[in-house]
Amino acid sequence: MDDLREKWLKAVADAGDAAALEAVRVAALGKKGEISAQMRELGRMTPEERKEAGPRLNALKDEINSAIAAKRAALADAALEERLRTEWLDVTLPARPQRMGTVHPISQVTEEVTAIFADMGFSVAEGPQVESDWHNFDALNIPGHHPARAEMDTFYMARAEGDNRPPHVLRTHTSPVQIRAMEMAGAPLRVICPGRVYRADYDQTHTPMFHQVEGLAIDKDISMANLKWVLEEFVKAFFEVDEVELRFRASHFPFTEPSAEVDIRCSWEGGTLKVGEGDDWLEILGSGMVHPKVLMAGNIDPAAWQGFAFGMGIDRIAMLKYGIPDLRAFFDSDLRWLRHYGFAALDVPTLHRGLSR
Ligand code: FA5
Ligand code: MG
Repeated sequence: MDDLREKWLKAVADAGDAAALEAVRVAALGKKGEISAQMRELGRMTPEERKEAGPRLNALKDEINSAIAAKRAALADAALEERLRTEWLDVTLPARPQRMGTVHPISQVTEEVTAIFADMGFSVAEGPQVESDWHNFDALNIPGHHPARAEMDTFYMARAEGDNRPPHVLRTHTSPVQIRAMEMAGAPLRVICPGRVYRADYDQTHTPMFHQVEGLAIDKDISMANLKWVLEEFVKAFFEVDEVELRFRASHFPFTEPSAEVDIRCSWEGGTLKVGEGDDWLEILGSGMVHPKVLMAGNIDPAAWQGFAFGMGIDRIAMLKYGIPDLRAFFDSDLRWLRHYGFAALDVPTLHRGLSR
């Protein structure tokens, strides 16, 4: 019995890995193992012999079992230690951003816009790109016969044969998110809503899919003056220069009264687009005081609340800031263009670190 004990405890101690340990367990305690064979021998002993040998054999079996369990745990610990040692990684090493691709100017500018408006207390709201015609038009005071529906060159979704409900549309602007934000959060409210919009439109400054960011501020005493200040502050922060010239031009939108469109002074000389100089103007946004009917559509009482709204072309301000003369190139997925105009993936724009360094 002592020989058995010494032999198997040594075998357990010598097992170098989990597989070797398992082989030892099978050889000692498996069905055909040596200890198991000894257990079977008990049946052939006299009752007196069995009384003496039985408990000792059982104790030995337990002892080997716990030695195996302890050894198994020790081997697992050692294996983990070894992995931790070899799979070690220095997370403080500088990254290699050139291997990660670049951030598209639209994503970059959306981040920049969000950072600036967040600083002014605006949160971000979102809505669907396939929108009900009620949210895209009716709720914004654009009834069925209104010419604005045709002006926006709307893409309509098809309905199944025999389904006479009005078709959904690819949203033509981000203004329907105004309604959704009002429905969800009520007044007072301060949100921006960036996203994709769609119109059947195509030339150097128009593409069928483009991006807008809606702004909406509703409170007790909001005026056109607040709108003008917010937009001027935005433009100064966004273009990171002081001498950007804005032109507020009286305009008309069914969902604002009064309304203004805003243009930025620029030059297209020599095929490059430059902001803040030249004799040209590029329209960047439409805006105005939210129409009472729009507030009502969003379940907000126009007798108690008022607000301003604007819808700005993200692609347009990206062209202006980064001197990109043709909007259509944004969506051609030309790798050379993307590498040239793209941004380092790890440089998240913030106001304190700089928006676009
Ligand atoms: C609108 O879409 C209104 N919803 C804006 C608005 C919102 C007014 C809230 C009042 C209150 P407009 O169609 O002018 O307006 O488009 C707004 C901006 O989107 C334009 O100034 C321009 O910067 C950009 N934009 C319009 N069409 C295109 C296009 N096809 N490609 C790229 N940018 C475009
Ligand atoms: Mg316009």
